[in-house]
Amino acid sequence: MDLSSLNSIAQSMVAPNKGILAADESTPTIGKRFASIDTESTESNRQIYRNLLFTSPNVSEYISGVILFDETIRQSTNDGTPFAEHLTSLGIVPGIKVDKGVKGIPFCDGETVTEGLDGLDERLDEYYELGARFAKWRAVISISDDLPSKNCIRLNAHALARYAALCQQAQIVPIVEPEVLMDGTHDIDRCFDVTSEVLQEVFAELNNQQVALNGIVLKPNMVISGMDAANRADIPTVASATVKCLSENVPDEVPGIAFLSGGQTSEEATAHLSSMNEMGPHPWQLTFSYGRALQAEPLKVWSGVDGNIEAAQEAFIKRSRLNSLARTGNYHPQMEEA
Ligand code: 13P
Repeated sequence: MDLSSLNSIAQSMVAPNKGILAADESTPTIGKRFASIDTESTESNRQIYRNLLFTSPNVSEYISGVILFDETIRQSTNDGTPFAEHLTSLGIVPGIKVDKGVKGIPFCDGETVTEGLDGLDERLDEYYELGARFAKWRAVISISDDLPSKNCIRLNAHALARYAALCQQAQIVPIVEPEVLMDGTHDIDRCFDVTSEVLQEVFAELNNQQVALNGIVLKPNMVISGMDAANRADIPTVASATVKCLSENVPDEVPGIAFLSGGQTSEEATAHLSSMNEMGPHPWQLTFSYGRALQAEPLKVWSGVDGNIEAAQEAFIKRSRLNSLARTGNYHPQMEEA
């Protein structure tokens, strides 16, 4: 294992003024996104859509890395260049989702553990050959009156660390993603407590399994009120609670923290990130690894119509540019209208 090269990949994933595009929706998930724009989810439509995103003009000014799905890393641009090679040629690091989704935990109603460890070492070697230099594994933790259970947190932290160690052994940077879901009526304090407990368990397991912390990127949720909470915390409150939680639980050696958007609107996700960076400097880069918050607008503008591709690329670049400004705390909501 070459630790210094893992660290330099991680550093380029969290490079200043840029962030990561999560375009790794599984076939069922992209099917739901396409259904929302009345577009059939065929392999060809999925290639057209991903090609649109990855070939947007000047994309590498704002995007440092792209997370791909298994099908996508085997697809090519319209001119026949494999997507991973195309991205690499632009200085964008290609990554790959390697988890196999979630399964219910016996005796823990409503809770899941993420699967995909069996055979992962061989899959990582193949993805490296295909050009991937980082990977993603998403663990899911739900909040309710009596969730999460200690067992759910422990099982997911253990699997995340097993995955992370296997990635580093294969010279691939692991994105470690423990997502505490926004679903529910809980308040921000409860999200703070659960996120803290989850991060503590995750870093304890990463240490147990000797994962090099300077060769990972953490992808957490923000500390935020539940989607259906009676009174939702405002932007500065979310920003300061999130920074407090991370400062207490994330070691300084971690090069960067790349947030998921998790169901926030595009505008909220950008505003929260900007507000956190305004509070800096922080020991780690604070950046984005958004799926929905980067893609909602371009997806809608495209709507499966060839004639809309250019406008969809403009919408994607606009969103990416606003998030790039949020990397230095320089986003303002008035910029949405410009
Ligand atoms: P969202 O930003 O849509 O939450 O997706 C990020 C992601 O990669 C979830 O695993």
